[in-house]
Amino acid sequence: MESSMIFVITCSVLLMCSSSALAQTASPPSLSPTPAPAPAPAHVNLTYLLSVAGPFSTFLNDLISTKVIDTFQNQANNTEQGITIFVPKDDAFNAAKKYLSNVTSDQLKSILLFHALPRFYSLADFRNLSQKGPTNTFAGGQYTLNFTDVSGTVHLDSGWSKTKVSSAVFSTSPVAVYQVDKVLLPEAIFGTDIPPTPAPAPAPDVSPADTPSKSKDGAESSPVSSPTNSSHRIMDLGIWKQLVLAITAGLILFL
Ligand SMILES: *[C@@H]1O[C@H](CO)[C@@H](O)[C@H](O)[C@H]1NC(C)=O
Ligand SMILES: *[C@@H]1O[C@H](CO)[C@@H](O)[C@H](O)[C@H]1NC(C)=O
Ligand SMILES: *[C@@H]1O[C@H](CO)[C@@H](O)[C@H](O)[C@H]1NC(C)=O
Ligand SMILES: *[C@@H]1O[C@H](CO)[C@@H](O)[C@H](O)[C@H]1NC(C)=O
Ligand SMILES: *[C@@H]1O[C@H](CO)[C@@H](O)[C@H](O)[C@H]1NC(C)=O
Ligand SMILES: *[C@@H]1O[C@H](CO)[C@@H](O)[C@H](O)[C@H]1NC(C)=O
Repeated sequence: MESSMIFVITCSVLLMCSSSALAQTASPPSLSPTPAPAPAPAHVNLTYLLSVAGPFSTFLNDLISTKVIDTFQNQANNTEQGITIFVPKDDAFNAAKKYLSNVTSDQLKSILLFHALPRFYSLADFRNLSQKGPTNTFAGGQYTLNFTDVSGTVHLDSGWSKTKVSSAVFSTSPVAVYQVDKVLLPEAIFGTDIPPTPAPAPAPDVSPADTPSKSKDGAESSPVSSPTNSSHRIMDLGIWKQLVLAITAGLILFL
């Protein structure tokens, strides 16, 4: 009597377990007949993109307040060439406060335009660009950037700012958005009287525990940051929960 009860309960626990696992792995889209295939969205909403990636709120807020966002969005919407935008994170803006606190609104606008190229470039395209000397930005005129490719990493030089692309936020023609480590300060505004760059930090203070065993370059070797796929994680969690439940149920039965 008791053993049959155990059998029944074990069976139902197992069933519950497997059916829920099945339900989670089954692909729902095959059931519903798909309507006409929706055309790929031709429009990338830059405001949305910059508000969910980042933190890029300083850059985004400046783009909005100067209306440069419309210039960029228009280029993204309506041109074949597309656009490439270099976006500094909020902490990069904090680091550059000293230089940015005094600029006029026209200068701020130029600085923002300086962070974009009126053409779509994939990361691989920068290898070409390095050989071409100064590259024109959206700000035009003397607002040019120099690119160099250092073993696959794109380095940018504005004269005042030497930095690199630290990750690709978005890169599907016609829109490329790359995160850079510094605000790009143009010589056209800040002059050619560039203060000597401080020697690369001696940095002996870094606790050895923080230093990864790999070379320092390892940190920059993943140019494309894919957002973690939370649905996978939730799925795994669901299965684990079922397993734990089943095991617990089993234990209780045998006690
Ligand atoms: C773009 O995204 C922003 C923020 O999500 C939203 O407020 C705005 O309406 C969107 N614009 C378009 C044209 O979809
Ligand atoms: C870009 O395209 C979207 C969708 O077609 C539109 O809502 C938006 O107003 C356009 N923005 C610009 C600046 O052209
Ligand atoms: C900001 O402007 C003021 C007045 O023009 C000047 O005295 C000051 O030195 C400037 N600060 C910086 C950091 O350039
Ligand atoms: C890169 O250079 C190759 C050969 O010179 C050329 O065919 C290609 O179009 C260039 N790509 C870009 C993006 O300029
Ligand atoms: C960019 O490169 C050119 C030569 O290729 C050089 O004359 C110029 O000074 C460089 N500009 C910057 C900002 O490094
Ligand atoms: C996450 O995984 C789901 C299911 O496999 C997929 O539909 C979705 O596109 C993925 N999202 C991302 C951001 O990779």
